[in-house]
Amino acid sequence: MNHAAQESIRVPIRKDTDLTVVRQQVRALAQRTGFGLVQQTKLVTAASELARNTLLHGGGGAAEIRVVHGQAGAGLSVSFVDSGPGIPDVDLALSDGYSTAGGLGMGLSGSKRLVQEFEIESGPDGGTRVTVTSWADPYSVGHGVR
Ligand SMILES: Nc1ncnc2c1ncn2[C@@H]1O[C@H](COP(=O)(O)OP(=O)(O)OP(=O)(O)O)[C@@H](O)[C@H]1O
Ligand SMILES: [Mg+2]
Repeated sequence: MNHAAQESIRVPIRKDTDLTVVRQQVRALAQRTGFGLVQQTKLVTAASELARNTLLHGGGGAAEIRVVHGQAGAGLSVSFVDSGPGIPDVDLALSDGYSTAGGLGMGLSGSKRLVQEFEIESGPDGGTRVTVTSWADPYSVGHGVR
């Protein structure tokens, strides 16, 4: 049996209380993957903002949380997926203070600063997937072939 493949959880994001479940599951899996408290909290904070975007801007969707193994050791990768309107200009959406919803516009840009890897797949035709990855030992990143 492949135990690594079992370390993957899908959390629906349909209502406010689901955001709490996302935070709990990300923290639990980060702990089990060997994240220290600071790394855990950074990833949970990023996940919380991105899950809120999935709900508010994407009309709901899901979070996919999975353990990954790379050159930097063990990490956690979390994708936030929705089939909402999409983000027509990703660079603009990532700039500090940009919000189409009267928010602070700090969710995306702030999240990006809290994780080691950050990717947005979206466009004007709809649907958004934001994937963030953090490593249990962030200091191992950048000393390899990157
Ligand atoms: N999943 C998504 N689907 C569609 N648009 C999105 C999505 N996530 C973000 N956006 C767009 O990117 C903008 C910036 O997002 P960001 O999280 O930085 O700010 P915000 O959610 O408006 O405010 P806050 O600071 O409260 O998070 C949003 O206002 C929205 O236009
Ligand atoms: Mg936001």
